[in-house]
Amino acid sequence: MVVKKPRIVIVGAGVAGLTAANKLYTTQGSSELFELCVVEGGTRIGGRINTSEFGGDRIEMGATWIHGIGGSPIHKIAQEINSLDSDQPWERMDGFLDDPLTVAEGGYELNPSLVKPVTNFFNKLMEFAQGKVIEDGLSKEEIGHFKLASKGFDFISRIGDPGKLSIGAFLRQGLQTFWDSLEGQEELKGYGGNWSRKSLQEAIFTIQENIQRTYTSAGDLMTLDFNAESEYRMFPDEEITIAKGYMSIIEFIASVLPPGSIQLCRKVTKIEWQPENYRVLESETGDFRPVKLHFSDGSVMLADHVIVTVSLGVLKARICEGSGFFDPPLPHFKTEAISRLGYGLVNKLFLQLSPTHDRESDDLNKFPFLQMAFQRSDSEFRHPKIPWWMRRTASLSPIYGKSRVLLGWFAGKEALALESLDDEEIVTGVSTTISSFLSSSHHKVNSNSHELSNGKVSSVDSSNGGELKFSKVLKTQWGTDPLFLGSYSYVAVGSSGEDLDTMAVPLPKNCSNGSCSSPPLQILFAGEATHRTHYSTTHGAYFSGLREANRLLQHYHCNGV
Ligand SMILES: Cc1cc2nc3c(=O)[nH]c(=O)nc-3n(C[C@H](O)[C@H](O)[C@H](O)COP(=O)(O)OP(=O)(O)OC[C@H]3O[C@@H](n4cnc5c(N)ncnc54)[C@H](O)[C@@H]3O)c2cc1C
Ligand SMILES: *[C@@H]1O[C@H](CO)[C@@H](O)[C@H](O)[C@H]1NC(C)=O
Ligand SMILES: *[C@@H]1O[C@H](CO)[C@@H](O)[C@H](O)[C@H]1NC(C)=O
Ligand SMILES: *[C@@H]1O[C@H](CO)[C@@H](O)[C@H](O)[C@H]1NC(C)=O
Ligand SMILES: *[C@@H]1O[C@H](CO)[C@@H](O)[C@H](O)[C@H]1NC(C)=O
Repeated sequence: MVVKKPRIVIVGAGVAGLTAANKLYTTQGSSELFELCVVEGGTRIGGRINTSEFGGDRIEMGATWIHGIGGSPIHKIAQEINSLDSDQPWERMDGFLDDPLTVAEGGYELNPSLVKPVTNFFNKLMEFAQGKVIEDGLSKEEIGHFKLASKGFDFISRIGDPGKLSIGAFLRQGLQTFWDSLEGQEELKGYGGNWSRKSLQEAIFTIQENIQRTYTSAGDLMTLDFNAESEYRMFPDEEITIAKGYMSIIEFIASVLPPGSIQLCRKVTKIEWQPENYRVLESETGDFRPVKLHFSDGSVMLADHVIVTVSLGVLKARICEGSGFFDPPLPHFKTEAISRLGYGLVNKLFLQLSPTHDRESDDLNKFPFLQMAFQRSDSEFRHPKIPWWMRRTASLSPIYGKSRVLLGWFAGKEALALESLDDEEIVTGVSTTISSFLSSSHHKVNSNSHELSNGKVSSVDSSNGGELKFSKVLKTQWGTDPLFLGSYSYVAVGSSGEDLDTMAVPLPKNCSNGSCSSPPLQILFAGEATHRTHYSTTHGAYFSGLREANRLLQHYHCNGV
């Protein structure tokens, strides 16, 4: 009689699933102990990591940044495999990020002296929400801004028990106190009467809110929980992109797996499990295992343990009444956590600029790192042709200094709308927007008004009649892709960090010490949405994969770390 090895099936070949597989395979002796396979519904590995090419440049359709290199396991791998340098141009996003050109709708370039205090104040609000010590390490200039906003901080420190406060509400209250502290500020000159000082400050503040929307994927910051923000952990030091592409990390993690252990185009449609009163399932081969996976092609597979790594969006869709994905359905504590947590949509839009025919000068071709201060939705001064789905895009910028590829980030409703637009609509909408910000005639500035720069609005300003033309468009579609149904998770108002921990609890729940009526650890959960402090990231997904591999290794008394 052949001794049966436990069979572990990992659903999903993204960072979490591949990391779990890697750990299970590379732990000494365990490859003889387990049968292991990864089943992936798509035609490729990587999941929400998808390095691609556009206009000759290497770009990222999904994960883009290493969020802080200090202590990041992703950074460690990137260094080890020498992925941080490349001869081919890539989505480098360096340098000029620190020095954006901020322009207000209608083509008014804003002087940093107007932009910086608002931006710094916003950042201090976020640091406060993140529980950072905000008074330490401030420069003299910053202390100036700090004092300016001191009333704002008084307000913040008075929020003793914010209860169900959202980040959105917190930020808006902060903005109000910022204004209160500046009572009686001088009105602006210039701006064709279309902007007041207050409306500009609000528009600059809104740029930062829009950046937060893409960071967190909360399309509406009023749904982003305030309390959970201080549990989120960032790695220290700079944030960088990966020169050889994020896929190089995926390929490295997958490289140890023996051929055939990753099965592509294997979409799971149902997971049958045995919460109690275990009855033996018998396959034609006389195989006995508690879990039965069904695939879209009608085939089935038995397993002792399944590690589910599908996105929170996919889980939300699969726990709907009657979906029957989990059979029997997941217990309530699990479905409630899945329902309460937030999972949003973020999309990236890439546009390739046509070469300008007249000059070769780099300067002329260089597009700035453009931050856009839009008029409020109720303003009578809105450019009527700028489409609504562009109006919450914080910036448009080349992916490195002299690239012809421009990138914009979209969140929420705007990101979803983008997915259904055709290329022509996108080009028209973006061109109209850019021309309202960059190619309008220079607005002559009252020389007394130091807030306004009096130079050209920008170097792409079409003083010689050349207009911006786009030759190619590429957008991501994470929201409508049935294998993802969105981008990444966040803690919604009404949810909490505890729900993220609950996401990670294996099933059946109370079988961990083997004293129950059915086999333990039938369904395990990994993926970014199962990590309490690093959710929404690649390294969070990585850690979660390690965690679940270790759980199984410990269960079988292997030396998992
Ligand atoms: C636009 C965008 C930008 C991002 N930017 C960053 C960033 O800058 N930095 C960062 O750290 N993170 C970023 N992220 C988040 C990061 O990509 C994810 O957190 C991480 O890749 C998630 O990995 P995962 O293994 O948890 O899930 P996934 O990568 O989603 O893996 C799950 C896998 O399961 C498969 N699957 C789904 N359903 C089934 C089924 N029924 N049967 C079989 N297989 C199935 C999917 O095809 C997928 O391959 C970004 C994400 C997006 C979308
Ligand atoms: C991955 O990128 C390719 C382009 O290189 C694209 O065709 C494909 O749709 C992308 N997949 C996802 C899930 O974004
Ligand atoms: C697990 O615990 C719940 C109550 O917490 C109980 O109803 C259920 O029967 C238990 N299941 C098993 C398999 O022991
Ligand atoms: C101000 O707004 C009005 C109304 O939208 C518009 O017609 C006008 O061109 C704007 N002025 C400038 C200088 O942008
Ligand atoms: C472990 O087993 C004991 C008795 O065998 C039981 O009382 C206890 O609830 C079990 N714990 C868990 C987490 O299942």
